[in-house]
Amino acid sequence: MLFQKRILSKLSHMRKEELQKMIMTLVNQNNHLINGLNAFPGALFIINNEHFIDFANDVGKKFLNIEGRYYGRSLLKTLWSPEIATALSTMLSHTDQAVQYKDISLFLRTPKDFLIGVFHVHRFNEHKKQKKTNISSTHTTPKASREQNFLITINDVSDFKRRYLEESQENSINSLTMLTSGIAHEIKNPLSALDLHLQLISRTFKKIHTPEKKELEELFSIVNHEVRRLDSILNDFLQSFRPRKAIKKSEHLNDIVILTLDLLRAKLEDKKIKTTLSLAPKLKTTLLDKNLIEQLLLNIIENSIEAIEEKGSDENKLISIETTEQPDHLTLTIKDTGIGMKEEHLAKIFNPFYTSKKMGTGLGLSIVSRIMREHNGEIIVESRAGTGTKVILEFYHHPRKMLMLENLSTPSTHPPPKTEARSRA
Ligand SMILES: Nc1ncnc2c1ncn2[C@@H]1O[C@H](COP(=O)(O)OP(=O)(O)OP(=O)(O)O)[C@@H](O)[C@H]1O
Ligand SMILES: [Mg+2]
Repeated sequence: MLFQKRILSKLSHMRKEELQKMIMTLVNQNNHLINGLNAFPGALFIINNEHFIDFANDVGKKFLNIEGRYYGRSLLKTLWSPEIATALSTMLSHTDQAVQYKDISLFLRTPKDFLIGVFHVHRFNEHKKQKKTNISSTHTTPKASREQNFLITINDVSDFKRRYLEESQENSINSLTMLTSGIAHEIKNPLSALDLHLQLISRTFKKIHTPEKKELEELFSIVNHEVRRLDSILNDFLQSFRPRKAIKKSEHLNDIVILTLDLLRAKLEDKKIKTTLSLAPKLKTTLLDKNLIEQLLLNIIENSIEAIEEKGSDENKLISIETTEQPDHLTLTIKDTGIGMKEEHLAKIFNPFYTSKKMGTGLGLSIVSRIMREHNGEIIVESRAGTGTKVILEFYHHPRKMLMLENLSTPSTHPPPKTEARSRA
C-alpha cells in the first residue's frame, strides 16, 4: 500500500524505463496475491459495500458457476442457494463485528453443511483522499472517505462434520461397550459358580431314590437349561460388542451376500418374505473382513425383515439385494418393502440405543456404521414412510479424499422430495 502511494506521488516525474519496472513490480505483486487467494481451499470473495463482487478466487467462480467475468455482479443475487444468500445477507447487515462465522446445513443432492465467514475490511478510498490531503503527510483518513469491503469465505464442512459425528458415535459406542462388557463379565463369575453347583447337584441326584426324584429332576432340567441359555447369550454379547479390528482379505462381496442369505433362508421362508438377487457378474475382489461384513448384512437384513413384519401386509413382502461396480468402489444395495421411516426418525437411526422396537437394543446400525468405517465405506439410507427402505453401502477401494467445493459443479437448489428422506452415517 505504502509503495503504491509513494509511486502515485512520483508518477509525473518518472522516466519510461522506471515506469515499466514499476508496472512489472505491481503485476508481480498482484499475481502473488491472486495465487495466494486461489490456494485457499474454499470459495473466497471480496465484495464492496453494495455487495458487488470485486474479486472471486477459482473455487469461488466454480461455486457460483460463473466461468468468466464476475466483476460488478451482486454476490447475493449470483448465489444459487437462497439459504446461503439469506444467511450471508443477515451476517453482512451486522457489520459491527470484525469476523462472523455461520455454519449452515443445506439440502443439495446430499445434505451439506457450509461454514460461511464474513471478514469486515475497511479500504481507503484513494481517489477522495488524494483530493483532500497530501498523501505522504498523513495516514489518517476522514470517515467519509472510507469504503467498506467484505471478505467472504464459504467452506464445505460436511466431511469434517461427518467425521466429528462418527467419532463421537464411536466414542459413545466404545464407552458403552466397556460398561456393558464389564457388567457382562461380572455376571459371568456367579454364572460359572451356578453351573458348577448344578453339576454337583446332578451327581447327588444319582444317589437319591425318593418318590419326588422325578419331579425334582424335571425342575432341575429347567434350571440347567436356563443357566446354559444365559451363558450362551452372555458369550454372544461379549463377542459382538468387544470392538474388533477388521482383518481384511481379498474377498468376493457376492459370495458373502449369498452366504448370509443362506443363513437367513429358513427365517425368510417362515415369514413368507421373497428375495431377489441381482449380483454384478465378475465383481472385482476387494479387501473385506468376511465375518464383519456378514454381521453387517445380518443386521441390515434383520431390520428389513422386522420392517416388513411391522407393516403387517401379506402382499409384496420383498427384499431386493443388488451389487454393482463403479471405477473406485463397489455398491451393495438392500431394499425392502417394509414400514419405512419418517424423516425425523431417519435422522436418528445411527445413534446408539435409538430403537422404535419393543425388544430392540438400537445398536444394530451403530455396529453397521462402525464396520463400514473400518472398510473405507459409506452408508446411505433412504426411506419413505409406509413404502420401504433402501440401504446403500459403498465400499471404496482406497480411502476417500476430502470433498471439495469444486465437486459441487451442478448444485441443485431443490431439496429432495419431502416424502423420501436420506440419512448418512
Ligand atoms: N429397514 C428398515 N425399515 C424401517 N426402519 C428401520 C429399518 N432399519 C432400521 N430402522 C429403524 O432404525 C432403528 C435402529 O435400528 P437398529 O438396527 O440400530 O436397532 P434395532 O433394530 O431397533 O435394534 P437391534 O438391531 O439392536 O435389534 C430401528 O429401531 C428402526 O426404527
Ligand atoms: Mg436392528
